[in-house]
Amino acid sequence: MAIEIIATGKMVPPQRISNQDMAEKVDTDDEWIRSHTGIEARHIASADVAVSDLAVEAAWNTLKMAIDRAEVGEKSPEELAETLDLVVLGTTTQDFYGCPSTSCLIQNRLGAKKAAAMDVTVACSGFIYGLETAAALLSSDRRRGRALVIGAETLSRITDWDDRSTCVLFGDGAGAVLLEKRDGEGSIVPSEGGVPKRRGLVRTILGADGSGWEYLVIRRGGSRNPWKTGETVEKNPHVEMNGRAVYNFAVKVITETIARLMEEESLTIDDIARIVPHQANARIVQAAGKRLGIPEEKFFLNIAEYANTSSASIPIALDELNRSGKLRRGDLVITVGFGGGLTYGGNLIVW
Ligand code: ACO
Repeated sequence: MAIEIIATGKMVPPQRISNQDMAEKVDTDDEWIRSHTGIEARHIASADVAVSDLAVEAAWNTLKMAIDRAEVGEKSPEELAETLDLVVLGTTTQDFYGCPSTSCLIQNRLGAKKAAAMDVTVACSGFIYGLETAAALLSSDRRRGRALVIGAETLSRITDWDDRSTCVLFGDGAGAVLLEKRDGEGSIVPSEGGVPKRRGLVRTILGADGSGWEYLVIRRGGSRNPWKTGETVEKNPHVEMNGRAVYNFAVKVITETIARLMEEESLTIDDIARIVPHQANARIVQAAGKRLGIPEEKFFLNIAEYANTSSASIPIALDELNRSGKLRRGDLVITVGFGGGLTYGGNLIVW
């Protein structure tokens, strides 16, 4: 039995904001942003677009790919949606505060009538946690079938556009994968070079360090600091960040997670085709790569175009690699990320 990724999709809003555009809003410049983060642009959703709108588009694109590539027997994305057992959404920017979960809105719009639906709120680690959650639920004997795992964010809605130390970092977008539980011989790819290659999600590491909760926090609006009747809102709820502390945490956990994933499966870096890291800062990835002695080209980076899209960054990257043919069946892929909470994790996948 294997839990395989059989299709991918994404949706990135068309409005592109360059570093030069940002320099017209706050005291910053293209050179600082590029040299400190690797970011050149970000895409921002228009005011009438909520996170579920991006997620639903990414989901349809994923279902279409499964049909186009003949991965499933169904004839249309709508028919395929009806077979889903589960919709899992990683997001920090739900359509509505607390209730209903945004995954329910997505489930309804897709017509995924028999699917359970849940949101996973672990900031930028949302996709990694979501993939493991969906795989674990599908692995249960009681369920056969398919799950849609989506990472989607409208970070522009929780950004303080006057704070140059955070507003240059974030963007909006959504990415998704379709998981299918498969069994029998079809789930085994002949081993090469002694490495067993069962297709699908092979291993996941998940972790948290709540002592760092204040390093990434939206202080207003929750039960700790609720809005009060008659209160004047001076600023929208927004992310406050201790950039240096998050940076240090990120380099440490990315390094450790990649090393552990390889060690626990007795792999070396030569066995790994691609590492797809959370796209928060190119310098974080470069620092982790240097510590592990991993060549830069093993890491897939598209942060230049999209900035940090939190839960969406890894599935967007997977879709770009998949559609461009840069991932082949049997390739070993590591995803790795970190986020508010603080949380972290990584998946080892045989593509
Ligand atoms: N333009 C120009 N100057 C700036 C900008 C900017 N946009 N932002 C900060 N600066 C200035 C600072 O004011 C500071 O100036 P000073 O020395 O005069 O005080 C100087 O640049 C250096 O600031 P640092 O904070 O030390 O810069 P650093 O090299 O650490 O880079 C950064 C900051 C990019 C935020 C880095 O710390 C980082 O990437 N941290 C991790 C962020 C991250 O991954 N967050 C994940 C959040 S995602 C989520 O969960 C929603």
